[in-house]
Amino acid sequence: MKIGHIELPNSLFVAPMAGVTDRPFRQLCKRLGAGYAVSEMVTSRRDLWTSLKTSRRADHEGESAPIAVQIAGTDAAMMAEAAAYNVDRGAQVIDINMGCPAKKVCNRWAGSALMQDEALALRIVDAVVAACAPRNVPVTLKMRTGWCQAERNALRIARAAESAGVAMVTVHGRTREQGYKGEAEYETVAAVKAALRIPVVANGDIDSPAKAREVLQLTGADAIMVGRAAQGRPWIFREIAHFLATGELLPAPEVQQAKRWLIEHLGDHYGLYGEFAGVRSARKHIGWAVRALPGGEDFRSRMNLIESCEAQVRAVNDWFDQLAHTHRLLPAANEPFIEKTA
Ligand SMILES: Cc1cc2nc3c(=O)[nH]c(=O)nc-3n(C[C@H](O)[C@H](O)[C@H](O)COP(=O)(O)O)c2cc1C
Repeated sequence: MKIGHIELPNSLFVAPMAGVTDRPFRQLCKRLGAGYAVSEMVTSRRDLWTSLKTSRRADHEGESAPIAVQIAGTDAAMMAEAAAYNVDRGAQVIDINMGCPAKKVCNRWAGSALMQDEALALRIVDAVVAACAPRNVPVTLKMRTGWCQAERNALRIARAAESAGVAMVTVHGRTREQGYKGEAEYETVAAVKAALRIPVVANGDIDSPAKAREVLQLTGADAIMVGRAAQGRPWIFREIAHFLATGELLPAPEVQQAKRWLIEHLGDHYGLYGEFAGVRSARKHIGWAVRALPGGEDFRSRMNLIESCEAQVRAVNDWFDQLAHTHRLLPAANEPFIEKTA
């Protein structure tokens, strides 16, 4: 699997998720089997580049290659500038966001809203490719199947983007109008894959190894991208990798192993955000990790009152240790939790 000249270790991708796929989470997913992870989107608004939020997003210290940065905006020149800015800060791939349902930049809807204005979408693609090509940085495009059910123009935009020099296209199998409702469809992804020579990535509702195989078969895609199902289950990537390679399911991780991954993640997370913001923003990751486990909801409510890193780590440690007395393994993906037997 290659993006332009960049070779990837495998074709299992972490979806960009604002507020989730920060550097610690991307690194964790890569350690647990993902071959590629795109950063949270960075705005094309220059006045925000020095804000704490954007500068954290543009900080790739210690991140394993390739570093892929997603940019969002509505103005071609600003998007080109944002691409160059991020390449100067270490981005090796620039991804254009035409997939995110709701983001206003400069009072105009960016992300998937761009699919409604194909001429503007292509001006942005042209400008970003022109900024990146001299630096040998591939540009990729992430989009939905279209603006609305009646206007599923992913294929047209994908073809034009390929002609403009885009190196890879990701398609989330929903329209902008759908938001996250309903189920993802894969016919449009398959049509895009059949029409393009560059790699095509299938995205939407992949939440288990079996679903990953099904989507690959249905679409013929070169890679798959997983978002929400990796929240609290970052090891889904190695589960998928193992299943695709062998046809067999990996046993679910041990409770103690999941605890160690979470504690390591928390350490990296506090390192990036510091104590005050770190403890608060870590709560969602802990909540996702425990939500399917017995007593998880109670723990989540109690944990949300904790205000220091040390106390948060201690609470997580104690809670998982307690759970390990009665359960050796976590539930397998989409399976009920199974009591430990003697
Ligand atoms: C919390 C959250 C934040 C997201 N942020 C972005 C984003 O910044 N850029 C983007 O292209 N897509 C974004 N998405 C969409 C995901 O990348 C992905 O396309 C979508 O969640 C469908 O994949 P899934 O079913 O595997 O979750 C976001 C999704 C979620 C749930």
